[in-house]
Amino acid sequence: MESTNATPVSLPRIGDKAPAFKAVTTQGEINFPEQYSGSWVILFSHPADFTPVCTSEFMTFATLMPEFEKYNCKLVGLSVDGLYSHIAWLRTIKEKIQYKGMKDVEVTFPLIEDITMEVAHKYGMMQPGESNTKAVRAVFVIDPKGIVRTLLYYPLSLGRNFDEILRIVIGLQTADAFSIATPADWRPGDDVIVPTAGSCGVAKERMETKDITCHDWFFCTKKLDKETVLKTITKK
Ligand code: BEZ
Repeated sequence: MESTNATPVSLPRIGDKAPAFKAVTTQGEINFPEQYSGSWVILFSHPADFTPVCTSEFMTFATLMPEFEKYNCKLVGLSVDGLYSHIAWLRTIKEKIQYKGMKDVEVTFPLIEDITMEVAHKYGMMQPGESNTKAVRAVFVIDPKGIVRTLLYYPLSLGRNFDEILRIVIGLQTADAFSIATPADWRPGDDVIVPTAGSCGVAKERMETKDITCHDWFFCTKKLDKETVLKTITKK
């Protein structure tokens, strides 16, 4: 870890409109988030090309891409390296790297070149206490209306948990579709949380309703089967 400094870092927060930018990527130019309108999108940064943790992450993300696509979710990567570095690194991954049963992995989602750090600064990806020259491992989950719904930040040394990133996308889409909330460690098929009753009458009725279990007046859950969840939120 590099020395801390007190420069404030500004970042978009949950509920904010995702900051707009145009950028050059390994898949051509993009106009973000406008061209992703109607899709969920994960914008994520990595510290540097040709580094081991980042390589393991890109191989995992590329392998999971079809799984994200099932939920109408696109991926966009970013680092403060240049385009030719990105191209050479992704070619090396495809041609040479075998890791945990993954090989011949082609990264087909766009990887942004951000040598000016313009985008990285807009998204609070440069965190001087961790590094002045490399972006931290940021993850922004952005909805089809271009609103930031979740953000995660990891330090340079810690590879991300991609199951959790997918769980976030599924959990947010389920909460939107069924007007519920999801409890700790929720997975599709687990019970979900129904909104707190606004009055004593509703609370009493709830506690007596068979398909709702109330642990107390402020904490009621109901069943929501996995098939219904997946049928509703997967891309048609
Ligand atoms: C890595 O991806 O392995 C890495 C990148 C920057 C600093 C430390 C580790």
